[in-house]
Amino acid sequence: MLRDIDRILVDEHEIKEICIRIAKEITEDYKSSDKRLVLICILKGSVVFTAELMKHLCLPVEIEFMKVSSYGSQTCSSGMINIHLDIKREDLSDADFIVIEDIIDSGRTLNHLVNYLAERGANSVKTCTLLDKPSRRCVDFTPDYCGREIPDEFVVGFGLDYNEKYRNLPFVGVLKREVYETK
Ligand code: IMP
Ligand code: MG
Repeated sequence: MLRDIDRILVDEHEIKEICIRIAKEITEDYKSSDKRLVLICILKGSVVFTAELMKHLCLPVEIEFMKVSSYGSQTCSSGMINIHLDIKREDLSDADFIVIEDIIDSGRTLNHLVNYLAERGANSVKTCTLLDKPSRRCVDFTPDYCGREIPDEFVVGFGLDYNEKYRNLPFVGVLKREVYETK
């Protein structure tokens, strides 16, 4: 597995520092709210990030899971989002939601989810991502909390996969092109 990695982009130490920093920001922002704070972990990629982040939150917090995928054309304008697993709760107006992503690429997934949760009556919806590739953006979208911006390279590890592999790596690394480019 390690031999498929070109180089480490974000190491374990930096990831932990990012989680501590974002958890402090969230704690500060929500400490006076009288609503329930709910993290929505987007399966599967953000499982590892969500788990590390929530350990550092100094607030009562709940967790929910959603699973989504993009479908349709890969061009910027026509991508659509499919929801495979939705949250079952009905008390959305009593809760502040933070949608947690592993990485933002086109921005379509989070943009869609924010609108979807707002339409269902959420008291508030914010977004948090470990990584962001702003150069790939197709829709106008900025996360509320961001670990680190990265260049346009395919990365794996700390929850991020290629073909369901590499999620268990403790760091984020650039995948060697030869692994995903047809020989
Ligand atoms: P978006 O809707 O285009 O922003 O897509 C974000 C999703 O694309 C992420 O949740 C990942 O599943 C996937 N993705 C984008 N870039 C990468 C990458 O470099 N490695 C692994 N997954 C990625
Ligand atoms: Mg994902």
